[in-house]
Amino acid sequence: MATPSLKTLAAQARRCERCPLYRAATQTVFGEGPADATIVFVGEQPGDQEDRQGRPFVGPAGTIFDKALAEAGIARDRVYVTNAVKHFKFVPRGKRRLHKSPDSYEIDRCKWWLDRELAAIRPCLTVALGATAARALTGRPVTISRSRGQVIDLPDGRRGLITTHPSALLRMPGAEARQRAYAEFVKDLALAADAIT
Ligand code: URA
Repeated sequence: MATPSLKTLAAQARRCERCPLYRAATQTVFGEGPADATIVFVGEQPGDQEDRQGRPFVGPAGTIFDKALAEAGIARDRVYVTNAVKHFKFVPRGKRRLHKSPDSYEIDRCKWWLDRELAAIRPCLTVALGATAARALTGRPVTISRSRGQVIDLPDGRRGLITTHPSALLRMPGAEARQRAYAEFVKDLALAADAIT
């Protein structure tokens, strides 16, 4: 069977009911970027802003991700950016919606879409941003500090790289530690850029 195009997949995903997360979320946030991208970045799940706008990494995590990409010499509009889970999972707290990490069932159910995105794009490198994406791509629990920063073979036969999630940089206490972690993140992104040349 022919691989569906990203456009077809995105249209189908709008009606996704593969797990219960669609019920509370505003909309499906599908991946974004060119079909011939050589690098695919996989985040965890849309946040509050992404859920409202329908686009991945457009909130605070997106701002720091964009800055790091630029410093690593990667043009965001040349890469494909998506998430392991396509609906925002949250707990309401008054007027706020607090992020809640997806569980392994939700990650596994949503892998169906990620597999199809990767089949359509066939990137040279897939980069997992954080533990949820790493779990989705490797099929096992991953400790970021132990696995980050090296090009690895993924179970699907493609090359992958695991790095930290940009939100982890925002949460890190202490300016010095935050700066060091950010520099490590940029270094991993630069490695990703090198790996495809
Ligand atoms: N965090 C993610 O993992 N993905 C987004 O799209 C935004 C924040």
